[in-house]
Amino acid sequence: MRIFVIGSGGREHALVWKLGQSPLVSTIFVAPGNGGTAQEKAVNVPIAAGDIPALVAFAKDNAIDLVVPGPELPLTEGVVDAMTAAGIQCFGPDKYCAQLEGSKAFAKDIMQRGNVPTAECAVFTDYAAARAYVQSKGAPLVIKADGLAAGKGVVVAMTDAEALAAVDDIMRDHAHGKAGDKVVIEEFLVGEEASFLCFCDGTVAAPLPSAQDHKAAWDGDKGPNTGGMGAYSPAPIIDDAQVASLIESTILPILRVLAADGHPFKGVLYAGLMMTAQGAKVLEYNTRFGDPECQPLLMRLESDLVPIMQACIEGTLAQCPVRYTQQSALGVVLAAKGYPASYPKGMPISGIAEADALPGVKVFHSGTSMDAAGRISANGGRILCITALGDSLAEAQASAYRALAKISMPESQSRSDIGAKGIRRLATGK
Ligand code: AMP
Ligand code: GLY
Repeated sequence: MRIFVIGSGGREHALVWKLGQSPLVSTIFVAPGNGGTAQEKAVNVPIAAGDIPALVAFAKDNAIDLVVPGPELPLTEGVVDAMTAAGIQCFGPDKYCAQLEGSKAFAKDIMQRGNVPTAECAVFTDYAAARAYVQSKGAPLVIKADGLAAGKGVVVAMTDAEALAAVDDIMRDHAHGKAGDKVVIEEFLVGEEASFLCFCDGTVAAPLPSAQDHKAAWDGDKGPNTGGMGAYSPAPIIDDAQVASLIESTILPILRVLAADGHPFKGVLYAGLMMTAQGAKVLEYNTRFGDPECQPLLMRLESDLVPIMQACIEGTLAQCPVRYTQQSALGVVLAAKGYPASYPKGMPISGIAEADALPGVKVFHSGTSMDAAGRISANGGRILCITALGDSLAEAQASAYRALAKISMPESQSRSDIGAKGIRRLATGK
């Protein structure tokens, strides 16, 4: 089969790496790809991930059998609808379903229709009404721009002044452009976050193992929110006994509502959960694999990914085996100093091959590029995700950090405590 992966992050490198192991796959293209995908069994193609007409033209011209979009942008722009109309299988939700991630107000509406546990909220298009609501409710409150804002459209406001400033920023000053024409203002939830992902075929959901991301830039969950500084799986905050009830409360209701709307959800549905004292509540849905959760999750997946993706598209997931290793996996992100604010680019990176050679270790690239001589340099905020398998979470953590120590890059930053919350919970039960 000829596969076409869309995107350029660590998630897409992991997808290319996993799909490349399938005996069904002969060729992989990736648009635009990165320095890591260039080193796999894949050809990088210089097309932007949001350029739907160019992506469809490429897929047609190159007799692609299966398209795998990684990031949310092509999904919300309708890449699945466009590929399907061209007769090409494409793994992911259609444009209607992708609104679950593309519009927080849409997601809240679907959640309400499905009785999914989530924070209480109100939606505003009127600036004065939004300010009045903040004043009547009082902090703490969470203010969210409705549309896609690269993870930057959410403000957790602990004081009324912060909440009002966030409304001003988003609605009056258009800090996120049209994404802020509408805002969602919601109740502040207290708890630990976890990522719960399922493969979905429209009606059936097959869970991936639990995972936990680390969104804050610095150790101890301090500092600004990032795309994610590391992840591990399994996440003991979700125990095995909870999985069936999480599917029942957070995934299946969404599948039922969307199917009733005439748009069965196919692809990966990712529930971002807050584990509160009152049980799991959904903070948000993503309609794709998480980055960096995808990297440890795909290292644990033993089954061939190609038949799973085809089963999601064809509605036959119930007959498709989805098996994972009992081992744990953990990935540490190496980022450029200053990320998520401004950061330098072009730094040379050495030691990747030495890290990759360690047993159970795989270095996934995100913001890297490779020159004609095969040298790798930094080209983004998040640069590498050094991922390792281990017989326990502690072993996976030790192995990932041993591998990170082999890598050197000037002007870098990484967290030194990826997995610490999970290891503590396994040791102490909290
Ligand atoms: P979202 O993009 O909606 O997941 O929000 C980004 C981050 O903001 C989440 O990962 C949480 O850390 C935080 N957050 C979002 N909603 C809430 C909420 N209702 N209560 C507390 N924290 C929240
Ligand atoms: N790691 C969080 C996300 O992919 O949105």
